[in-house]
Amino acid sequence: MNTHVIELIVNGDLREVAVRPNLTLLQLLRDHLRLTGTKHGCGTGDCGACTVLLDGRPVNSCLTLAVEARNRTITTIEGISTSGTTLHPVQQAFVEKGAVQCGYCTPGMIMSSVHLLRTNPDPTESEIRHAIGGNICRCTGYTKIIEAIETAARAKKGSGQ
Ligand code: FES
Ligand code: FES
Repeated sequence: MNTHVIELIVNGDLREVAVRPNLTLLQLLRDHLRLTGTKHGCGTGDCGACTVLLDGRPVNSCLTLAVEARNRTITTIEGISTSGTTLHPVQQAFVEKGAVQCGYCTPGMIMSSVHLLRTNPDPTESEIRHAIGGNICRCTGYTKIIEAIETAARAKKGSGQ
């Protein structure tokens, strides 16, 4: 199968990769770029474990072709901390509130939450539930996740992240 050479920005770095036309963005991230924080759950757009930000908006990377990311900007869970050494306020809140059990949903859940708080810094519980509506968690019952997002919203005020 022919390959296409594409350029894209991943977590702030310009990357040039040769990809098959049918390669998904999820496969590109995990298998080619070794960014394994993004998880492969269902592969059919149902669970949200593969959520990344494409030009700042959450997408299911399992349903996005790598070639669709040509000349665009991708942010994964590995790229959300501005310092690279400290946790993003959403990550910190997930830890503090016990919102992580098996952790498989967590990267996708956090990416959806990061987008929510960038676009709506002071969300209601209903808005939080709507924002993570595409992210399935089989472990936590969601209550601690929602508490964590509320905590992150308070913590982020004035942090600029
Ligand atoms: S792996 Fe993409 S939505 Fe489940
Ligand atoms: S913590 Fe296990 S699926 Fe959410």
